[in-house]
Amino acid sequence: MSLFKIKSVDSIVAESEKPGEKLARVLGGFDVTMIGIGAIIGAGIFAMVGEAAVKGNAGPSLIISLLITAVACGFCALCYAELAAMVPIAGSAYTYAYATMGELIAWIIGWDLILEYAIGNVAVAISWSGYFNDFLKSLTGLEVPVWLRLDYHTFLLRGYDIASVPHLFGIPIVFNLLSVSVTAVLTWLLIKGIKESTRFNSLMVGIKLLVLAVFVGVGFYYFKPGNWVPFAPGGWTGIQAGAAYIFFAYIGFDAVSTVAEETKNPMRDMPVGIIGSLLICTVIYVLVAVVLTGMMPFTELKTKIAEPLVAGLEYNHAARWLVGLVSLGAVVATTAVLLVFQMGQPRIFFSMSRDGLLPKYFAKVHPVHKTPHVTTIWTGIFVAFFSAFFSLDVMAELCNIGTLFAFILVCAGVIILRRRDPARHRPFKAPGGMLTPLLGIGFCLYLMLGLTFMTWMRFVGWLAVGLVIYFMYGFKNSRLRNGAPENASA
Ligand code: ALA
Repeated sequence: MSLFKIKSVDSIVAESEKPGEKLARVLGGFDVTMIGIGAIIGAGIFAMVGEAAVKGNAGPSLIISLLITAVACGFCALCYAELAAMVPIAGSAYTYAYATMGELIAWIIGWDLILEYAIGNVAVAISWSGYFNDFLKSLTGLEVPVWLRLDYHTFLLRGYDIASVPHLFGIPIVFNLLSVSVTAVLTWLLIKGIKESTRFNSLMVGIKLLVLAVFVGVGFYYFKPGNWVPFAPGGWTGIQAGAAYIFFAYIGFDAVSTVAEETKNPMRDMPVGIIGSLLICTVIYVLVAVVLTGMMPFTELKTKIAEPLVAGLEYNHAARWLVGLVSLGAVVATTAVLLVFQMGQPRIFFSMSRDGLLPKYFAKVHPVHKTPHVTTIWTGIFVAFFSAFFSLDVMAELCNIGTLFAFILVCAGVIILRRRDPARHRPFKAPGGMLTPLLGIGFCLYLMLGLTFMTWMRFVGWLAVGLVIYFMYGFKNSRLRNGAPENASA
C-alpha cells in the first residue's frame, strides 16, 4: 500500500517554498505563452508534415489530421491547465501524479517524461543539425562532413561509404557533432539563468512566426485548387496515420507547466500559457498545411521529405532568398524547441530529487544564478550523447509514445483529484465535467495504439528499467515514505 502513498497538494506547495530549494518567480503570462510556442513549433511543422502527408498517405487531408490531433491535445491541455494552476510546482505531470495516484505512479511518470523531454530533444537536436547544415550550405556553399552530422546507422542507410571516414584504432568515427554542439551551448545558457533564456526564447519565437507568416503569404500566391484533388488519398486510414505522425508537432504545450514554480501568478499564467500557445500553434499549422498541400501535388514532397516547406518553394521556383529564409526559420524554430525542453527536463529531475526519489545532489540550486544547474548539466550530457549516436525516427516515435502516456496519466489525475478533493479551490477548472479528461484519455490511447510494435517494446523496456531503479533507490530513500511529517496515505 505504501507504494501508492500520495503527497497532499498543500504539502507539495509548502515544500517548494523552502529556502535553498526555491526557484525565482520571474515569469509572466506573456513569457509562458512564448515558452509554449517556443516548445511547440519546431521539427514537427518544418519536417514531420512531409512524413505525415507522404508516408502516412494523408495528402491534403493532413489538414484534418492536424485538427484531430489539435482536439486531442486540447482536451489534455485543459487538464494540464487545471492541475498546473492548482499545483503550481516545477515537476509538471510528475508532481500531479504524486498528488493523485501515489509515489509509484509518480515515479513511473517522472521516468516516462524523460522520453518526452530528453528523448524528444534528442530527435529535435538531430533535426536541427540537418537544417543547420542546409542553412550553412545555402549561405556559404560549405558543408559539415557527413561523418560529423549523422549517426552511424543513418550514415549507412543513406548509402555513404564507411571506408571514407577517419578511423581510430580501426573503428570508424561517425557521430553527430552538430547536435552535440548545440546542446552544449543551450545547456550553458540555461545554467546562466531562466530570465535571460526566456528573452532569447521570445526573440526566436518572433523570428519563426515571421518566417511562417512569409511562407503562408507566398504559399497562397502559388495555391492551385487542383492540387487538392484527391483531397484524402489514403481515406480515413491516411488521416489517422497522418495524425499519429503529426502528434510530434504539438508536443510542447505541456512544457509550460514545468515552469509553474517560476511564474509570478501561476493561477492565471498557467491556463493562459498552455491553452493560448496551443490555440495559436493550431491556427498556424492549419494555415501552413493548407498552403503547402495547395502549392504542389503532395506526392512531389517525396523529393525532399525532411524539408517539405523548402520543397514547396522549390517546386514553384520561388526566389532563392525565400529558401534561405525558410531554412533559417527551421534552425531558429528547432533551437527554440531545444531550449524549452532543456529547461523542462531538469526541473522534473529537480522535483524527483527533492522528493528523495533521486539523489539529493540533483536538487541543488546554483548559488548565484538560482537555477537547477546540476540537473541541467546531466540533461545536457544525456541529450548530447543520444543525439550523437542515435537516429531521428526511433527517437521521435519513442518520444510520442512516452508523451501520450504522460497525457493519459494527467487526465486521469484530474478525474481522481476532482473525486478525492472536490472542495479544493480550482483557479481554473476544465469545462465539460468528467467528459473532458475522459475524452483526453480516449484520444491519447487511440493515437498510442497507432504506433509500431517496436516502439511499444522500447517503451515497455524503458519503463522496466525505471522500475528497477525505483526499487533500488527511490523506494528506500523516498522522503514521503520515510516519514516526512506532511505525509498523506492513499
Ligand atoms: N513540437 C515540437 C517540434 O515540433 C517537439 O519540434
